[in-house]
Amino acid sequence: MQVCHTVADIRAQVAGYRKSGESVALVPTMGFLHDGHMSLVRKAHEVGDRVVVWIFVNPTQFEKADDLAAYPRDLDRDLAMLRAEGVDAVFIPEADEIYPEGAETIVETTRMANMLHGLVRPGHFRGVTTVVAKFFNIIQPDFAMFGEKDYQQLQVIKRMVRDLIMPIEIIGVPTVREPDGLAMSSRNVRLNAEQRQTALILSRALDHAEAVAPSKPTVTALQNQIASLIAAEPGADLEGCDIVEAESLNAISGPISGPTAIMLSVQIGPVLLIDQRVITP
Ligand code: PAF
Repeated sequence: MQVCHTVADIRAQVAGYRKSGESVALVPTMGFLHDGHMSLVRKAHEVGDRVVVWIFVNPTQFEKADDLAAYPRDLDRDLAMLRAEGVDAVFIPEADEIYPEGAETIVETTRMANMLHGLVRPGHFRGVTTVVAKFFNIIQPDFAMFGEKDYQQLQVIKRMVRDLIMPIEIIGVPTVREPDGLAMSSRNVRLNAEQRQTALILSRALDHAEAVAPSKPTVTALQNQIASLIAAEPGADLEGCDIVEAESLNAISGPISGPTAIMLSVQIGPVLLIDQRVITP
């Protein structure tokens, strides 16, 4: 596995793959890898001849300097995990090469970045699209993998690629779950045994939505049903239940008709957990 620290190094590496006619599948990460990232790597192996991973804790997507400083890092462990998964190259640049002195260019999906989670995290998705556009430009992959768990991020990236006519196929990879249905997240370790049990309410609420979808409930009815299920679970506080058109993320009203995304966030103990599902009536 080649470990590249500069733009010139990773470009030379990828140019070698291209010369041999090989396609490149990219996995974007901020490091501190877990099974969810490994599922992106495995999908990348399925679709591309070569797999490139980037590890970069992107400063522009954090609102607070404290959150950026507190972001967990374990590079040795990350590299060992990537080697074990047969990754071809890892790109770990310094921030000043990605954001050179005086950098002022941003990339933003002006509508999608500023709705839903973007309302509570202003500037977050602009930071994501700006850094992703830079890495796409550096690596020029054929495919790039993004987890469906960060559903708004996935749709924002798809929209950017479409709008900027980038020749890259964005592949959404299904959320990896524990055997009991809990979506895997590095935050789960902060739940005690009781909270871990309570956390199953997210997947149960989404199962319920999927089960009732064929009866085409209205958005309000579905939101009320999900809110009641979560209210009945001691220790779970519903923070958000957005039910939107799956691709555009536009609000919908009345009975659900086409593909519909349900984006849930629930506070359980110290942790805000998110989960999502796309249902089709
Ligand atoms: O999902 C993430 O880990 C980050 O938002 C990404 C896509 C690597 C951009 O920094």
